[in-house]
Amino acid sequence: PLGLRFPDGFVWGAATSAYQIEGATKEDGRGESVWDTFSHTPGRIKGGDTGDVAADHYHRYAGDLDLMRDLGLRSYRFSIAWPRIQADGAGAPNQRGLDFYRRLVAGLHERGIAPMATLFHWDLPQALQDAGGWESRDVALRFADYADAVFTALGDDVPVWLTINEPKTVVQNGYLQGHHAPGRQDPEAAHLVAHHLQLAHGLAVQALRSRGGPGRIGPAFNLHPCYPADSSPAAAAATTLYDGYENRFYLDSVLTGRYPADVLDDLGPDSRLARGIRDGDLDIIATPVDLLAVQYYTPIYVTAAGGTVTRWPTSQADWQQIHPDGLYDILTRVTRDYGPLPISITENGLPTTDALGPDDTVDDAGRVTFLRDHIAAAHRAIADGVPLESFHVWSLMDNFEWAEGYDQRWGLIHVDYPTQRRILKRSAHWYRSVIADNAV
Ligand code: FCB
Repeated sequence: PLGLRFPDGFVWGAATSAYQIEGATKEDGRGESVWDTFSHTPGRIKGGDTGDVAADHYHRYAGDLDLMRDLGLRSYRFSIAWPRIQADGAGAPNQRGLDFYRRLVAGLHERGIAPMATLFHWDLPQALQDAGGWESRDVALRFADYADAVFTALGDDVPVWLTINEPKTVVQNGYLQGHHAPGRQDPEAAHLVAHHLQLAHGLAVQALRSRGGPGRIGPAFNLHPCYPADSSPAAAAATTLYDGYENRFYLDSVLTGRYPADVLDDLGPDSRLARGIRDGDLDIIATPVDLLAVQYYTPIYVTAAGGTVTRWPTSQADWQQIHPDGLYDILTRVTRDYGPLPISITENGLPTTDALGPDDTVDDAGRVTFLRDHIAAAHRAIADGVPLESFHVWSLMDNFEWAEGYDQRWGLIHVDYPTQRRILKRSAHWYRSVIADNAV
């Protein structure tokens, strides 16, 4: 142990998302999402995997809740599947879909675990994709309706809401690189999508505010500290612009009501983004939030030519360089640049390849080291004034890791997919003691 105690009341949690764990994709009136379509498209997902069954959490949630209690979790971050609530992305909410999340939320409260609900973790109703997806401004308006239906059903029972999970990942993976749904490679579309995702965020915040009630709400951004790959002025300049696309585009719009001028300049006055921003949009986007959810996995090193290089050892996820100081840097920077908004770390974690041992153990020592070092970095950030409230491990359990299918295991809990048996990994036992001690 490092002997680093956290402030009293610090909240320890773990995170998941609907499509990655629930399965039951055709039950209780759920409609199709873009991830059903994408995962069923040959060649898109490693091994041809889909989320049809995933960790079967839709049926096994009660046992999973007991595991959360056994770990001592104080917070559980999950996401609500829009197509369970509105099969086609519009109209009256589907009661059976809402009921699942009501049962989940009630089960959390029974076990003393605070629910933290994400409204959108990438599973857009396919019908809305067919109507233009996030390229269509109307989808942001649909999102506000959906959010309102969810708040009406669950608003009094969920203390923390997150709007859109990692808008940047939808932009970059879904619309620039194309290895996530909907699988596009269209930079002009991508940045308009970014705006509509930000707009959807702001409209959902307004929907919660107009209902009143106790819930707090904020955006969930994956922030990447960007460092120059060398000491040249050109690398410094390239890093600043890179940071604009990675971080400031999202942070500035929500927290200052402006898109960064360097990014807008770089895209040009005729970009679909520039043409898609209407008067008043940024006021909506900048509707005051209660907290900022930060997800941290990796730093980025930017070359003079605007490319990237790898500086630290990578994990099984080739995009992930292991660099705990990056978490400290991004937390302190956000507090310095945007003021003392409460921050929750809503994702941090590592995939490991450790197999299930014969004695039903999984020795994921690498995950323990990774989490310990990142939690220590978070502790240092708190000591230096960052108002950090909580830390959530990605992920509670192994799950469908998008284009990587089931090959990458990110969980504290091992899922034996053929039997759906859950086995606590070494990291889960370790995390239980971190929670009990409120210290690493
Ligand atoms: C994040 C996603 C989450 C999971 C982790 C590994 O970008 O929000 O669903 O895929 O990465």
